[in-house]
Amino acid sequence: MNFDSNREVLDWYERQERSLTPEFIGSIPWDKVRDTPFDEKFVPVLFYMRDVETLTDMYHRELARTPTGRDPDISKFMERWGVEEITHGEVMNRFLNELGYESDKKWQDQVRSAVTKAYKTNAFMLTTLTNLIGKKFTATHMTFGAIHEMEAAQGYRRLKTLTDHPVLNPILDAIIREESAHNQFYWSVAKLELSRNKTARRIARFVTERFWAPVGQGSLAKRRTQYLVKTLFSEGEGLDTIDAKVTKRVTQLPGFEGITKITDTISNMAATSNVPFEAALP
Ligand SMILES: [Fe+2]
Ligand SMILES: [Fe+2]
Repeated sequence: MNFDSNREVLDWYERQERSLTPEFIGSIPWDKVRDTPFDEKFVPVLFYMRDVETLTDMYHRELARTPTGRDPDISKFMERWGVEEITHGEVMNRFLNELGYESDKKWQDQVRSAVTKAYKTNAFMLTTLTNLIGKKFTATHMTFGAIHEMEAAQGYRRLKTLTDHPVLNPILDAIIREESAHNQFYWSVAKLELSRNKTARRIARFVTERFWAPVGQGSLAKRRTQYLVKTLFSEGEGLDTIDAKVTKRVTQLPGFEGITKITDTISNMAATSNVPFEAALP
């Protein structure tokens, strides 16, 4: 798909229908979750995904304080995007509950308040810094968004392949469809913003090479990220998928020729991580 302006990308996004409608969620046979065994080793992965999705609105609020968040098309997108990610967290939580992993009524508040203070200070500094750089930082935000969405979609795909659970499969398919639409938005706006300005390209590439980390690292405990990466991407096929579906796609963005950062980071983390099950739970 080719777009000439952020507005066109937004119009496209707004034409996409939601997959996780209340009707869809209501039709999920929740009472059948326990009929099929579910390998316990994927439980921390589900919790991780639930929490990352839930923290999206924190990120959304941070971004709202920057020139990126003040772009009318981007902020319009982010309103709906934030709602969709919250739903992803909610269905993950419901699935966990049905599996037998109870969560507190206020689990969403708990997830938010558990975010490390270091992260909050860091985010605040970054936002302040971003305001100094101004509009040229939008390309970086959009590039990070695109990478995170692709990575999330691949994480869900991989989880689906490895668990192949009849109730979880259609839920993951629906989430993946929404993640793909998010990616399309970020990706297309990133491409437009990067192609417009050389400084924007240089900043985006520099920040990605320096600071890119799997989504959730920083806001959640690092051991949880390590566990997820090892569980989903340590074996050949997992890593190959990251390389083909994320890294190779990123190299197609203006200014990102030859970048290997994502595959390198995931591969190193998978090779060195040795986090036991209990330590990977929230
Ligand atoms: Fe999501
Ligand atoms: Fe998403």
